[in-house]
Parts: sequence; C-alpha cells; structure tokens
Amino acid sequence: MNDLTNKIALITGATSGIGEACAIQFAKAGATVIVAGRNSEKGNSIVDVIAAERGQAVFRDLDIQSDESIKSVIDFITLKYGKLDILFNNAGIYPISPTLDELTRDLGASILDVNVSGTVMMIQACLPLLKASHGVILNNASVAGLQSYSAGQSYLYAGSKAAIIKITQLIAKKYGKQIRANIICPGVVRTPIYHYFDEERYKSNIPMGRVGEVEDIAQAANFLVSEDAKFINGAVLTVDGGQSL
Ligand SMILES: NC(=O)c1ccc[n+]([C@@H]2O[C@H](COP(=O)([O-])OP(=O)(O)OC[C@H]3O[C@@H](n4cnc5c(N)ncnc54)[C@H](OP(=O)(O)O)[C@@H]3O)[C@@H](O)[C@H]2O)c1
Repeated sequence: MNDLTNKIALITGATSGIGEACAIQFAKAGATVIVAGRNSEKGNSIVDVIAAERGQAVFRDLDIQSDESIKSVIDFITLKYGKLDILFNNAGIYPISPTLDELTRDLGASILDVNVSGTVMMIQACLPLLKASHGVILNNASVAGLQSYSAGQSYLYAGSKAAIIKITQLIAKKYGKQIRANIICPGVVRTPIYHYFDEERYKSNIPMGRVGEVEDIAQAANFLVSEDAKFINGAVLTVDGGQSL
C-alpha cells in the first residue's frame, strides 16, 4: 500500500468493478475518496463499506457526459474540501463490438463521448484545483489501446483508449511543472463490463495463466497516484499479466 494520507481523491465510475476497488484501496491508503458515478444505491453502499473500515468517502452523482453534472461535483469538492489532489478517470463503456459493417454513427458517438470526451471534460474541469495542489491525474485506458490483437473488432473502443493514451501524454508534457498525468492499461480484468466473460479463452492469451482481478489494478493505481511515483509522468503502465507482450 502506498500512503495517501490527507489526499482528496475523485474517482469516476467508482460504482463498479475497477473504480469500486480503487475507491476502497485509496481509502485504505488514507485518502478521502469522492465515489462518483450514476448509481447512487451502489455508490452509497461502497461508501458504507469504506466507512466500516474507518475510511473516509462520500458518494456524488456524476455523469461524465453532462457538463452540468461535472460542474456540480467540482463545486462540491471546492466548497467542502477546498482542494483536489487526485483525479482517477476510470469511467468507461465497452459495448458489444459491432463489425465495421454494423457500426452506426450513434454507437460510435456514444463510445467516444464517454471514453474520450467525458475524460477530457473531467480533466478540464479539475485542472485549476489540480494545478493549485500539484495534483495527479490517472487515466484508465486499456491494452486495447496498445495492441490490436486484444481488441479484435472493437474499432472505436480500442481507438478511444489509444486516444486516452495520447491525450494524457500531451497533458503530462504541457502541465508537467504543476501536475503529473499517467495512464494505466489493464488487460482482461474480471468485472461487469463484460457481457459474457469467457475466462478460458482470455486466460489462454495471458502468460501468467490467469485473468486480472480488480485488486491487481487498484494496487497499481494506488502506486501511480502516490508520492512514491513522484517522478513518473506521462507513463503507460500495463497491468495485464503479460497479455500485451
Ligand atoms: N475490465 C476490463 O477487462 C478492462 C480492461 C481494460 C480497461 N478497462 C477500463 O476500466 C474502466 C472501468 O471498467 P470496469 O471493467 O471496472 O467496468 P464496469 O464495472 O462496467 O465499470 C464501469 C464504470 O463506469 C461508469 N460509467 C459508464 N458511463 C458513465 C458515465 N457516463 N458517467 C459516469 N460513469 C459512467 C459505470 O457506471 P454505471 O454503473 O452508472 O454505468 C461504472 O461505474 C473502463 O474505462 C474500462 O474501459 C477495463
């Protein structure tokens, strides 16, 4: 565990899967976590789990496709805490992949709006607070943004994750004197994002012989947002058991 005492951390899509595990991990490491997402029942239950372990967390309703919703979360953080140290852009969607023939403009637009524009608008909104606190951005991409074989026919999902990688690196370069920005690229991780989780097929492509668990990603994310990673900026960390080799 990498110490996050006194840090204020905002996690998007913290109501499920990787985001949920990161909320629990960051709180264990000492951060006050804003568990942000659209599912208030699930979000509040995660806050209860954290509170039961004497951690600090609060749920805030957040839809990263809405500028109004983003603003309301940033206003809340500004008013309540007066600072933001960590932004983990984790929210993302992975719809059943259509073939190129089946792809529609609307489906393409929704993938790009959540995975790319949502992440960018979150960064834009949080930048003043992050600059003031010399904070950290961590963006959740995917090995699909690096390696085409793992993406199969997910053209726009893979493209959205490649875009996240490049956008994060540009931010790391532009704002390096004030903030750090890094990318985490999970391989196959067991979460509800899969419509059908074909474990045997997935693990046959992974040198370590198993799929990822959410805690594998949470531990790596905890490191990247902590002071222990203080000279790591613009880096792409694959956490995939060697899947992308
Ligand atoms: N699992 C994997 O194998 C894997 C591999 C590589 C990368 N990733 C990436 O990891 C991230 C987390 O995915 P996961 O596997 O943990 O899946 P998940 O359990 O389905 O979680 C996705 C989260 O994103 C949230 N979200 C989606 N659209 C949103 C929006 N418009 N506004 C706010 N929140 C929104 C979801 O909230 P709702 O419940 O409200 O929909 C949910 O909390 C994604 O970016 C995904 O691309 C996952």
